[in-house]
Amino acid sequence: MRPAAKIRAVNPTQIFPGSGSDRFHLVDGEMHCEGLAITALAERFGTPLYVYSRAAMEDRFDAVRDAFGADARICYAVKANPNLSVLRVFGERGASFDVVSGGELARVQTAGFDTSEVVFAGVGKTRAEMDEALRAGILAFHVESAAEVEVLEDLARERGTVAPVALRLNPDVDVDTHAYISTGRKQDKFGLDLAIAGALVERIARSSSLRLRGYHVHLGSQLKDPKPYARALDRIEAFVDAASARGEGVEYLDVGGGFGIAYGTGEACDVRAVAHAVVDRIRARGWRPTTEPGRFLVGDAGVLVSRVLARKDGGDKGFLVCDAAMNDLIRPALYGAHHPVGAVRAPDRAPAPLTVDVVGPVCESGDFLARSASLPPMVEGDLLAVLAAGAYGASMASNYNSRPRPAEVLVDGGDVTVCRRRETYEDLYRAEIDS
Ligand code: LLP
Repeated sequence: MRPAAKIRAVNPTQIFPGSGSDRFHLVDGEMHCEGLAITALAERFGTPLYVYSRAAMEDRFDAVRDAFGADARICYAVKANPNLSVLRVFGERGASFDVVSGGELARVQTAGFDTSEVVFAGVGKTRAEMDEALRAGILAFHVESAAEVEVLEDLARERGTVAPVALRLNPDVDVDTHAYISTGRKQDKFGLDLAIAGALVERIARSSSLRLRGYHVHLGSQLKDPKPYARALDRIEAFVDAASARGEGVEYLDVGGGFGIAYGTGEACDVRAVAHAVVDRIRARGWRPTTEPGRFLVGDAGVLVSRVLARKDGGDKGFLVCDAAMNDLIRPALYGAHHPVGAVRAPDRAPAPLTVDVVGPVCESGDFLARSASLPPMVEGDLLAVLAAGAYGASMASNYNSRPRPAEVLVDGGDVTVCRRRETYEDLYRAEIDS
């Protein structure tokens, strides 16, 4: 494992306004990521460009480790940013992984990490995916339905092995977040209703091809309040205590991920408060505390750098048309999510800022990266950065409008590596059959 990133490559003079990490900072009015100027990166690698800070990822991982303790298992939620180099940052720091598809499992294997601590969640796993995970020898399938248990048992029997299982419980706990990413209420498709989970425990106990190893809960994403985590634990404890068989063989409780970040307003989730609410109670039962954060680890560690193509003034509002679009970062369009934006280089004089919509070239009015943003007057060729774009940015990017996806680079002190090259036009139709 790399040593903790205590010694900084640069002495940050000023955090970049709106950034949740001081690894993005200003030096003489110029945005830097760790030791490198964003302008130089944009010139070298082109735009749109995802820039990640390794140290920012390590800072956040260390914060979760400090909060949850040395004995906790931290499974990085691969979906937040599945880049192999990102997996490596966390894997080298002692993380395991939370995957939700065969593709994510293949990434962990390709990155060269041990899969014996990998957890496999997801409300709909195919038989083929279950088979792949069974062969890989993962920690547990986080089972979400009775049907899944049947398929898994069948597969395990066929292979002459025992499938490790943790039940993902739906504790019916409400959280304060966007409806699309709330996952622990009765009306959500996720997890097992507590009323039926008891029968599944018995079903698993009767099977010689299945073994109950733990419980899992994931309440939703972009959460700030620790209380729902404690409420969910209350319900899980009540569930387990209602019948002795429910605690048999249980080794861990996975409290999920969901720790929110600031996105330019307020504070990030206090992971210490979350850990404080649950960890000792989990340990007291002899279970290993397990968590699976995604956004908290990578969100503030990445920015999307884009060049202004045109400034359109007049009418009710002005627009900055830039070369990044909703296909590169869909969160504003999909969830109405707010991402802070800023000029990469502050203007020499400080003229009054303008209120503009930052939009992309995609042929939809829903294609915006920021609405009513306050930015210094910017013109064609200037660079702007969309902040907090490290999670669910590149991972949700598409080729809509036949736009090649951006390059991604990973900065480490004064070094930079391309961790995903920019796509070419040929990449766009590589899988198509032109018959
Ligand atoms: N574990 C499970 C079972 C999950 O479903 C998720 C996220 C996580 C862990 C990680 O959650 P995180 O710590 O990153 O909040 N695309 C949306 C977020 C979707 C989250 C899906 N599940 C967004 O851009 O806000």
